[in-house]
Amino acid sequence: MNNQNTINDIRNKIDIVDLISEYVPLTKKGQYYWGICPFHNDKNPSMSVDPKRQTYNCWSCHNSGNIFNFLEQIENIDFKEALKILGDRVGITVNNFASSTDKKYSKYYDIYDITAKFYQLMLNTEIGKKAREYLKKRNIDSDTIKEFGIGLALDEKNKLSRYLKEKKYDLNTINELGLVNGENDIFINRIMFPLEDRNGRIVGFSGRIYTDSKLSKYMNTKETPIFRKGSCLYHYYASREYVRQQKFAIVMEGFMDVIRASTIGIKNTVALMGTAITDEQISLLKRLSLNIYLCLDGDNPGLDSMLHNGELLEKAGLNVKIVMLKDEEDPDTFILKYGKERFLSLIENALNYSDFKIERLRNGVNFSSDIELSKYINNVLKEASEIKDEIRQEIILKKLATETNLSYNTLEKKLNEYKEKNNNNRNLITNFSTKKDIKYDKYMRASLEFIHYMLINPKVIRIYDNKKLYFVNSELRNLAGEISYYYHNYGDIIIADFYTYLEDKKELLAAFEKVLNLELDEKISDITIEDYVSAISEYNVRQEILRLEETMRKETDELEKAKVAEQIRLLRIGGNRS
Ligand code: UTP
Ligand code: MN
Repeated sequence: MNNQNTINDIRNKIDIVDLISEYVPLTKKGQYYWGICPFHNDKNPSMSVDPKRQTYNCWSCHNSGNIFNFLEQIENIDFKEALKILGDRVGITVNNFASSTDKKYSKYYDIYDITAKFYQLMLNTEIGKKAREYLKKRNIDSDTIKEFGIGLALDEKNKLSRYLKEKKYDLNTINELGLVNGENDIFINRIMFPLEDRNGRIVGFSGRIYTDSKLSKYMNTKETPIFRKGSCLYHYYASREYVRQQKFAIVMEGFMDVIRASTIGIKNTVALMGTAITDEQISLLKRLSLNIYLCLDGDNPGLDSMLHNGELLEKAGLNVKIVMLKDEEDPDTFILKYGKERFLSLIENALNYSDFKIERLRNGVNFSSDIELSKYINNVLKEASEIKDEIRQEIILKKLATETNLSYNTLEKKLNEYKEKNNNNRNLITNFSTKKDIKYDKYMRASLEFIHYMLINPKVIRIYDNKKLYFVNSELRNLAGEISYYYHNYGDIIIADFYTYLEDKKELLAAFEKVLNLELDEKISDITIEDYVSAISEYNVRQEILRLEETMRKETDELEKAKVAEQIRLLRIGGNRS
């Protein structure tokens, strides 16, 4: 039996209702079981488990999948580990499991690994002395160097490119990895920090200058198929067991912050690497813990960024606390200056996000301007209305009343209005009416529905294959391509197994969930399919016309302009016909 079949076999032998029941109480209603979704801040049972399909789906946060997806996220493990645990349960071992991306990029991983070792060696050479002194000056000892795999890129004479060439690695590949440019090393005279993906594999480097240099402080390897800065959290993999123990994760800004915290035994930390938080980072964090402490730099940009990132995290259903560093420190400098105890006490006294936000809302408000004052009051009340704790709400109201000279009762009345509004919104979500209300334009709807039917009707896949349909966005295009590929390679599409297939194509999960959970009749008529096809073609023509119009605007040569205009005219006629 090949691996894919073995995996599907394990999936078949474990009932998803049983598995999820171990973590979440489920009640049967209609064809589904319902429970409180463990993947977002949920009060109502918005997660359904479908015993027929053997999948789960949260209608609120849109987390969905099969037994493997569920276990991965709830236990905060990767697919391989989930596979092993569930396989053990039913006495099936999957040998030499490697996902298709693993295989495809295994050379990349090898090269980064060997590069990391090379850099580490260089740090210990005679000529690495200056870098070692720099690290020593920054209070980074040899244990820490080892723990974080810190290394050193040297000069022309000690080139990585030569070393890799000697190891018979192909220069083109090494070029693709952002390590060398032609025959030259990209990193010269920098202290090197390996960057890992969520499975702990090295997927890139960041290098810091350590001598007087006008070059930018940190430089990263370029983005490759296995590394995107926005989807990376520094120290994510290593932090997992500590987060599990501590039950919260601390998010910092830079490498040095995480490394410094580790020297005082605080290891449940990750770093954003200097960017605003991305959706991918948020979902990684969600897998780590629902409790997030933001501890970014204490200067104004740092505070702004905690406000912004905190908002996004709260929206995603995470509980956010804010650790404020005084005097424009960052965690690195703070710990060096004040030590472990003071830092721990900062963490202990972290602010609730809402309190921090209210604090920040006050910043810069001109209290003698009626407009500003009323805006401020409304913002505070809006924020307070989201807080679950009534005592805290009362405290906020009291403070606000004193501060603004308004009566407590007026403020309370307004607060209750906001609370009412929130409740209505929430009901809207739990009644799932929002789901139906989502206004897709006709092209989007045609694309989604067409792909939905590809999943349940092979005839629609064949139409897709013949017509070469070009859907409205790249996720949908890729998803449709994968569905067709899957069908031709594995036969019928079993939804729960298709989730496994998407394990190394997680970027398609959101689109898949959207397509899958449309409420449509199971049967589809030929006429409806034709309608989809013509809507999608119409969309393509429209896009092409837009593109050509843009070309025409930029074109200066009159003759060329006329040619493009003619093309547009032809498309318009053709477009109207279809
Ligand atoms: P910081 O400038 O706060 O760096 O940038 P740091 O952590 O304090 O570093 P040290 O103490 O000066 O060595 C925070 C993060 O932003 C990214 C890095 O990931 C850094 O850790 N960054 C910063 C860059 O990618 N490039 C830069 O030039 C600077
Ligand atoms: Mn710093």
